[in-house]
Amino acid sequence: MELQQAIKTRRSIRQYSAEEITQEQLQTIINAGMLAPSAGNQQPWHYIVVKDRAKLDRIPEFHPYCKMITNAPVAIVVCGDPEGKKWADFWVQDCSAAVQNILLAATDLGIGSVWTGVYPEERRMIGCRALFEIPSQVIPFAIIPLGFPKQVEAFVEKERFNPQLVHQERYGAHG
Ligand SMILES: Cc1cc2nc3c(=O)[nH]c(=O)nc-3n(C[C@H](O)[C@H](O)[C@H](O)COP(=O)(O)O)c2cc1C
Repeated sequence: MELQQAIKTRRSIRQYSAEEITQEQLQTIINAGMLAPSAGNQQPWHYIVVKDRAKLDRIPEFHPYCKMITNAPVAIVVCGDPEGKKWADFWVQDCSAAVQNILLAATDLGIGSVWTGVYPEERRMIGCRALFEIPSQVIPFAIIPLGFPKQVEAFVEKERFNPQLVHQERYGAHG
């Protein structure tokens, strides 16, 4: 798939079929996360791969907008580890870039995904920490359920270009 097509057709997919995601596909997706840009190339991320059905099904107990996880075969929990890093405060941006790379790589493979935010919501972070035994200096950032889309029309291209949000040379000047 061309990059432009992946960008245009990536959608938040929240219904998944039972089809398994292979180890090779997971590797490709996580590798895309690790190839994201990061401040000072500090790569402050960790990726927890979760397939255990019992664990996945507990996520909605602390994340109210992650109910789709109960029909996803796998999820990746992206965590940030800013401790001791020179550019520690950039960890959110670093992890965001990693998540976006993951979403696009999944789209490229025909795999549905959705970014469900954890940080900075305290309850979600506490729940994640407990369930996945995340050490105190590591911050759970996002949960990404993954699965082949159930709906036939999953990767629908959307038009969102808004010229009002584009400024020429100075704020408020639209071309
Ligand atoms: C930081 C962030 C947090 C999000 N959290 C959730 C979430 O908790 N649950 C969910 O279903 N979608 C979540 N989304 C997905 C957005 O709802 C979705 O990206 C938006 O509606 C646009 O739709 P699209 O992804 O199909 O283009 C999140 C997206 C971002 C960027």
